[in-house]
Amino acid sequence: MTVPFHPRAPGFMVAPHEAYRALRAQGPIHHEAETGIFYVLDHALAVEVLRAPARFSSAVDRAGLRAGGLPAEVLAIRQQGWPLAPTLSHNDAPSHEAFRALVAPLFLPRGLARIRPFVAARVAELVAALPAGQPVDFVAAFAVPLPIAVIGEVLGMRHLGDATLKRWSDAFADELGFLTSDERAIEIARETLACHRAMMALVDERRASEGEDAISLLARATIDGRPLAPGEILSLLTQLLVAGNETTTATLAFALLRLARAPALWGRLAAERRLIARFVEEVLRLDCPIQGQFRRAVADEVLGGVPIPSGSLLHVRFASGNRDEAVFGPDDDALRLDGPAPPPHLAFGLGLHFCIGAALSRLEITAALEALLDRFSGVALAAEAGALAFRTHFHHRNLLALPLTFAA
Ligand code: HEM
Repeated sequence: MTVPFHPRAPGFMVAPHEAYRALRAQGPIHHEAETGIFYVLDHALAVEVLRAPARFSSAVDRAGLRAGGLPAEVLAIRQQGWPLAPTLSHNDAPSHEAFRALVAPLFLPRGLARIRPFVAARVAELVAALPAGQPVDFVAAFAVPLPIAVIGEVLGMRHLGDATLKRWSDAFADELGFLTSDERAIEIARETLACHRAMMALVDERRASEGEDAISLLARATIDGRPLAPGEILSLLTQLLVAGNETTTATLAFALLRLARAPALWGRLAAERRLIARFVEEVLRLDCPIQGQFRRAVADEVLGGVPIPSGSLLHVRFASGNRDEAVFGPDDDALRLDGPAPPPHLAFGLGLHFCIGAALSRLEITAALEALLDRFSGVALAAEAGALAFRTHFHHRNLLALPLTFAA
């Protein structure tokens, strides 16, 4: 194998696809001897796993994945808060469906129609504030502020400040990646406690509210005829907060990076607006902000000829399946805007856990691209591409900054 597969190493997220390609050439499943994790690398097997939740459970305890366990101080801080219940991502049938049904209305056409004018207004403000002809960090100036404002509005927490919500979301995201230092783990525990206290205070305030924000919805929701427990409400709200902005931020930055690297693309999308939707799907497929997710084998399995003992952890690398040569063709970094639409990608997952916010993120990204194409005539990288820095994370792929110059 020419490119080493070190998914925990700083810098792995710069070009993970090269490592996946080399691994796929060896077989559809990679077994990591040190941890026992089975990485699912090809598209067909990823689909098989994601479509079989009774065989491959989502109930995975991530706390145990952190090397060395958690510092005692983290456990002490956690004692002051509420233990989180499994609800969506880390949960299985039947309660997964019940919890999902509680928040689904936020993302169905009526919920999206409620948020659409807010998205349009925030996009317009942010695009108007971007300079023409001088460098700007697109991540800080646009890709972070848009989705954090939108999810703050959906949750009914925006009055606490976008910067505060982003700090809390970053804490949850880093925790999900379990590659943090002890100092950061302690800071994350403090941020989490502060966030959970703020969320519970708002829930208590809104028990009788008729509001349509997520907090009001969950404050008056019932499950099995009883109100939700704090650990259930907080689990739902924190998942929506982190999933609702981190990934959309990443996709916006990747879209602009691709536009900056292929100058003819700007003019083409500006002239043929119907291609924007396909461009967005291709960015999601190729850059895949959530590179993969865990599942646990419920019984002994054989996948791609590889025996997988009951209880084993699998990591379905969506990002590898999204570039599987057998499905998408040999040039695994080619953006395909022409010809028949490629088969569905895995960037939003598949099956029961398919991303609940897919339509909202598509709405945000499309509105952003439309407005940028309206205002500017092109975009270029304002720094050496090799200097781009990515967050160190086990499966989130995010640019930390993206210096761009827009042309008037
Ligand atoms: C480009 C943006 C996004 C990407 C790439 C993305 C990706 C994903 C993926 C891959 C999953 C499936 C995880 C699994 O199978 O275990 C997922 C689930 C989820 N996503 Fe997203 N997501 C995005 C935007 C959003 C937004 C905007 C929200 C909310 C506002 C959101 C909320 C969720 C939730 C709550 C789940 C768990 C669903 C369940 O387990 O039933 N996501 N997302």
